[in-house]
Amino acid sequence: SKAPVRVAVTGAAGQIGYALLFRIASGEMLGKDQPVILQLLEIPDEKAQNALKGVIMELEDCAFPLLAGIEAHSDPLQAFKDTDYALLVGARPRGPGMERADLLAANAQIFTAQGKALNAVASRNVKVLVVGNPANTNAYIAMKSAPDLPAKNFTAMLRLDHNRAASQLAAKTGTKVGDIRKLTVWGNHSPTMYADYRFATTNGKSIKDLVNDQVWNADTFLPTVGKRGAAIIAARGLSSAASAANAAIDHIRDWALGSKGEWVTMGVPSNGEYGIPKDIVFGFPVTTENGEYKIVEGLEIDAFSQEAINKTLAELQGEQDGVKHLL
Ligand code: NAI
Repeated sequence: SKAPVRVAVTGAAGQIGYALLFRIASGEMLGKDQPVILQLLEIPDEKAQNALKGVIMELEDCAFPLLAGIEAHSDPLQAFKDTDYALLVGARPRGPGMERADLLAANAQIFTAQGKALNAVASRNVKVLVVGNPANTNAYIAMKSAPDLPAKNFTAMLRLDHNRAASQLAAKTGTKVGDIRKLTVWGNHSPTMYADYRFATTNGKSIKDLVNDQVWNADTFLPTVGKRGAAIIAARGLSSAASAANAAIDHIRDWALGSKGEWVTMGVPSNGEYGIPKDIVFGFPVTTENGEYKIVEGLEIDAFSQEAINKTLAELQGEQDGVKHLL
């Protein structure tokens, strides 16, 4: 049988953590033949550490055959030791009266420290997924704080936006979500993201042709996907957790095990593709194979799409400028 791999998860006692850890331990993320050791990180705060203990008791009580070990930590230097995967979920949420700059600064501090810790102690091939918001900028900060690790191993989660878009398009076209191919979401994980179905097919038919309604695209589809997170908060009183955890599982599973030629969306550092400046962590269409992703290149960008991409890029550059002095 395979040797266990180490999976670090931060914010492990939070709501996404609660929807995520059990699925990792059951083999849904890395395969039903891959044992895992969970290295869980929470803030030192007593309440958080106690909550983490409770989650660990429940993990034990699931008696998952693939769960080869569980560790609880309050120090990233211990939590990230030799880790093969790092899911950075914990982040500072925006509190009442908190300015955007304060939020960026608080998270810059967290992700600088965690990037440095990964740089110091993680596996040299660690695959990092940042979920905690602002996810793209936090991934950028962690990447810049880990100069000895490959920049390409730092990614941000755009998969929830991708899955939300797929679900809306399946409903619109009356087809099954599993039949949709070649969908992507460009840019920032924020309402400015650009979900792009111009290349997408369902059952082999062009979704753009099936929909054939640019007004619906601009005035219904994009705002629905972009504001889905806010709609869930309004309805549930809490932000999306199970769907976010599900997207994290999808992101890492496809990265690790391959997308079999299909496009998936990942937030990854640009190498200049599509005119996105180098190192900006941007949602791109990618295919994955042998543990590596490759940005799909050569797609035509029409005027509407270029404008949308420029807008989400400008937002990301603004965030990046806002943290520059902290790096
Ligand atoms: P939550 O507040 O329920 O849990 C976050 C947990 O992280 C808390 O237990 C907290 O103690 C912990 N934490 C905070 N700072 C930490 C640090 N420095 N080290 C370790 N742990 C730390 O929040 P929830 O709902 O689980 O969401 C987590 C993050 O994911 C938020 O930033 C949220 O905005 C983001 N998110 C991102 C999505 C995406 O698509 N990229 C989708 C949904 C949420």
